Amino acid sequence: MSDKFEKMKQIRDEVIAIDGGLAEYRKKNNNHAVLGEGSHDSKIMFIGEAPGKNEALTGRPFCGAAGKILDSLLESIGVPRKEVYITNIVKDRPPENRDPLPSEIELYAPFLDRQIDVIQPKVIATLGRFSMDYIMRRLGLSLEIETISRAHGKSYDGTASYGTVKVVPLYHPAAAIYNQSLKETLKKDFQILRTA
Ligand code: URA
Repeated sequence: MSDKFEKMKQIRDEVIAIDGGLAEYRKKNNNHAVLGEGSHDSKIMFIGEAPGKNEALTGRPFCGAAGKILDSLLESIGVPRKEVYITNIVKDRPPENRDPLPSEIELYAPFLDRQIDVIQPKVIATLGRFSMDYIMRRLGLSLEIETISRAHGKSYDGTASYGTVKVVPLYHPAAAIYNQSLKETLKKDFQILRTA
């Protein structure tokens, strides 16, 4: 078994064993924790917010309506979904899909940090403002944080434990479900991932 696979399995086991909070809600509802999926050797990592209903039922990230949009965006740049790595900051579904609390981000983010260290992506595409805020702070870009309406589609040089990472903030695909113009913006912003 590869070292990366072993490390990812260890992270999964630790998340599954969490007690209380969102993990308790997961266990009560027979839901799954959603760790992430895709290639452990990917150059690009997509980071969303937290699992929704479909994700918690299946254990797979971005497999509902927002996932369909993400799939079509990946297709638009000719990147097969299985070749990238897709995950979230928070690994358990917040009730009624409410925003994650700061304490929940604090609890789950160290697992995300470890996933980043395993995969060592060259590019991190953040989906939505929670992910943008967390990743920019984590990778030494606090001073460059702007609103997502200004930052989307730009590229920032962040610093990870293993070297430089390009951070590309993107709108969350869920925001584009009923908003065609935002979907067009996302499609345009995705182009940067071809060259980032
Ligand atoms: N929204 C997210 O942020 N992540 C998912 O996995 C699904 C919807």
